Amino acid sequence: MASQEDVFKKLVAHCKEYGFVFPSSEIYDGLGAVYDYGQNGVELKNNIKKYWWDSMTLLHGNIVGIDAAIFMHPTVWKASGHVDAFNDPLIDNKDSKKRYRADVLIEELIAKYDDKINKEVEKAAKKFGDSFDAELFKKTNARVLEHQEKREEIHERFKKAMNDNDLDGLKQIILDYDVVCPISGTKNWTDVRQFNLMFSTEMGSTSDGAMKIYLRPETAQGIFVNYLNVQKTGRMKIPFGIAQIGKAFRNEIVARQFIFRMREFEQMEMQFFVRPGDEMKWFSHWKAFRLKWHKALGLGDQMYRYHDHEKLAHYANAATDIEFLMPFGFKEVEGIHSRTDFDLSSHEKFSGKNIKYFDPETNQSYTPYVIETSIGVDRMFLSIMAASYKEEELEGGETRVLLALPPVLAPVKVAILPLLKKDGLPEKATEIMNELKYDFKCVYEEKDTIGKRYRRMDAIGTPFCVTVDHQTIQDNTVTLRYRDTMKQERVNVSDLHKIVGDQVNMKNLFKKIMEE
Ligand code: GAP
Repeated sequence: MASQEDVFKKLVAHCKEYGFVFPSSEIYDGLGAVYDYGQNGVELKNNIKKYWWDSMTLLHGNIVGIDAAIFMHPTVWKASGHVDAFNDPLIDNKDSKKRYRADVLIEELIAKYDDKINKEVEKAAKKFGDSFDAELFKKTNARVLEHQEKREEIHERFKKAMNDNDLDGLKQIILDYDVVCPISGTKNWTDVRQFNLMFSTEMGSTSDGAMKIYLRPETAQGIFVNYLNVQKTGRMKIPFGIAQIGKAFRNEIVARQFIFRMREFEQMEMQFFVRPGDEMKWFSHWKAFRLKWHKALGLGDQMYRYHDHEKLAHYANAATDIEFLMPFGFKEVEGIHSRTDFDLSSHEKFSGKNIKYFDPETNQSYTPYVIETSIGVDRMFLSIMAASYKEEELEGGETRVLLALPPVLAPVKVAILPLLKKDGLPEKATEIMNELKYDFKCVYEEKDTIGKRYRRMDAIGTPFCVTVDHQTIQDNTVTLRYRDTMKQERVNVSDLHKIVGDQVNMKNLFKKIMEE
């Protein structure tokens, strides 16, 4: 069986071969952790964004959207805490000259102990068969207990060092547990230093004193500085939300795993403004709602889990991640944060403007508290691609590569395929396409055998193929082929719109989310 690493490599190659994701500036050998979306990638990405945007702004009468500029006044980032605190602890290996995130090295060290424990359990399970009790084994096996104790020891030291911002403490863990550089194999480490992740550039010409400005590392601040504009002009009453989709930039030290950690990426963020004291109620609400949104896509409930934060960001009083089972383990796709009134109070202080909300129900002015839901479009994209990519063995020893994408997100919904390039079949196929194309993204293909065309459509995740043949001319029926089952049935052209619509309409997913 192929390892998860092999599967991931194949997925990356597939993304390129089928026009989903290309390395940026590829003809110049690419640019680290920057990627371009191709013709199919952009459709999938747009569908993800629509699924998110509509779930916020259509399903909630009290959520509206904005589109703020990427460039913002530099004091925004002072007020938000990003200039002083948006850092990663980095460490260099003096022999290989490679740079690492000290926290990531330690997290990997902890994961190694988890692996060791799992291997012991697996080995014992094989040995003892059906009567094996994994929980009892973990509590009593000497070797497992030893690994567990080490793991906890490292974890406790790590948690304390991160919370205390103790850079020497982080380095000491790396030294004490013999963490070596994977390239040089040595322990010749520099001290740990803080590295700010914001990119900066200059606005205005240097002769008249250019201003240093930052490329936003999160879209959220565009919402905070506009919250009162939106509240007043939209006559919004608390609780209300503001949603935004846009680019964010971070100079990640360790950028790996394809589009999982990029230097330029896209976020979908929603800030929900609530009365002080109500924040934990709304935190729970959004935590549950966001998981339902993910699960409604049908990729499998077991693919998700919550991960509550131990080390809270400088602005939060509670935080959870929704993690997805990627080919390289459970990883964060979305963060839900209770951001208190940190950002709004800070902007009030730094700007000197009164940005309090007047509550007509209580006749009081106050600074609202904020619950944030923040999801990376690219990570969502990766999770969907990873869960949908399948290699299937067919009868007769043939294999097919299938992208079993949720039909609502598939880049192409219907492929229209004339069996032959003659006898009026292309004209009839074009006529059918013209009926469907206003509602569904369709492609027309007449090149190659029908089998090859089906395979190409499977590989980009097209849920429906419509084959037009001589019978179509006579009785207006076509062969409709379903991607996942490869089942084919004869249907009337006039029924196509409804059959496709039932599967690809987001409304069905939204109803599911709201009904639960
Ligand atoms: N406004 C809050 C915020 O930005 P975050 O946890 O730093 O919180 C939110 O980021 C989401 O943005 C993450 O859950 C992830 O999906 C995405 N994200 C963050 N950094 C990323 C990166 N370097 N590449 C791709 N996606 C990223």
